[in-house]
Amino acid sequence: MTQVQHHISLKPYNTFGLDVQTRAFAEVNSLASLKEAIAESPEEQFMFLGGGSNVLFCKDYEGLVIKNSIKGIHIVSEDDQHVTLKVYSGEGWHDLVMHCVERNWGGIENLSLIPGTVGAAPMQNIGAYGVELEKVFIELEALNLHTFELHTFNKISCAFGYRESVFKRQLKGQYFIYSVTIRLDKQPKISIEYGDIQQVITDKGIALSEASIKDVSDAVIQIRSSKLPDPKVLGNSGSFFKNPVITKEKFEQLQQQYPGIKGFPNDHGVKVPAAWLIEQCGWKGKRVGETGAHAKQALVLVNYGNASGNEVYQMALTIIQSVKDTFGIQLEPEVNII
Ligand code: EPU
Repeated sequence: MTQVQHHISLKPYNTFGLDVQTRAFAEVNSLASLKEAIAESPEEQFMFLGGGSNVLFCKDYEGLVIKNSIKGIHIVSEDDQHVTLKVYSGEGWHDLVMHCVERNWGGIENLSLIPGTVGAAPMQNIGAYGVELEKVFIELEALNLHTFELHTFNKISCAFGYRESVFKRQLKGQYFIYSVTIRLDKQPKISIEYGDIQQVITDKGIALSEASIKDVSDAVIQIRSSKLPDPKVLGNSGSFFKNPVITKEKFEQLQQQYPGIKGFPNDHGVKVPAAWLIEQCGWKGKRVGETGAHAKQALVLVNYGNASGNEVYQMALTIIQSVKDTFGIQLEPEVNII
């Protein structure tokens, strides 16, 4: 039987380290125990937590929190070129990346050290250093929370976008992601166009033509660790905001005024680094009470130890307003605000 605990602190279960209470809490390690937890709970509402790395609790949770610990990495098929893996959603994302890098299965090494679980990865189509999950994604199984039936979603039905999927939009709150199937390359080609990756590799005396996926993974880990605070030391949830996409016209107009502005054109307009906008508004490294924007990456809001979720949220609203007033750009949070 699934053990349900009552009135416990969620502090160990969210990377912001916020000390909020949940009325009920159950950790599940199979689909059967998950269904049982929901069916037997008298609570009216429930929510799932994976790694707790993309959530800001602004108040206590009056319901059942289900911690997903459903694990397993299985080979579905394999040939000389590719390996297809089915991974259960409670598996740690970084553990999966390490499992694949050790075996020289390429495709997700640029996504090293991203916190959270495999189930959260398609939810927001995780991405970093020029690669997004959708590049290797084949399909996922998700439990419909009304009918308790398992449905399969392919790449199209997931409707992936930048930090987006159907599970954050039309189907929000309606499905639990149970497993994710990905296809990796056994003769991998590395992807090192983004940012400082090439520099970090060559600084180690490795020729780019010789670099392995392990070298790329090591470089990404080194860059991330130098910029992003370790949640065990300083509570945070990675990028707090999404990078806004603005029109080409708006970008050109801003360029006149702010020649230093950076922009990356895409199919929808020009993506502007939110970190740059926040830094220009003077928030980088600024502490307000127990919260603030991180000194090495302005996009990351941190908890200096005793912040409340609401305090972090107020800080976020202040930053949103400040960027709006200065640049006329509306920032949107990337984290889920509860
Ligand atoms: N920048 C600043 N000020 C800063 C930090 C960065 O001006 O304080 C500028 C940099 O000069 C750079 C640009 O902003 O030109 C982009 O910076 P960075 O490469 O650090 O990436 P980002 O756009 O800030 C995104 C993701 C990260 C991901 C990195 C690397 C989003 C919301 N964030 O950040 O993802 O690791 O790219 O690919 O897309 C996360 O989602 O939690 C996350 C950490």
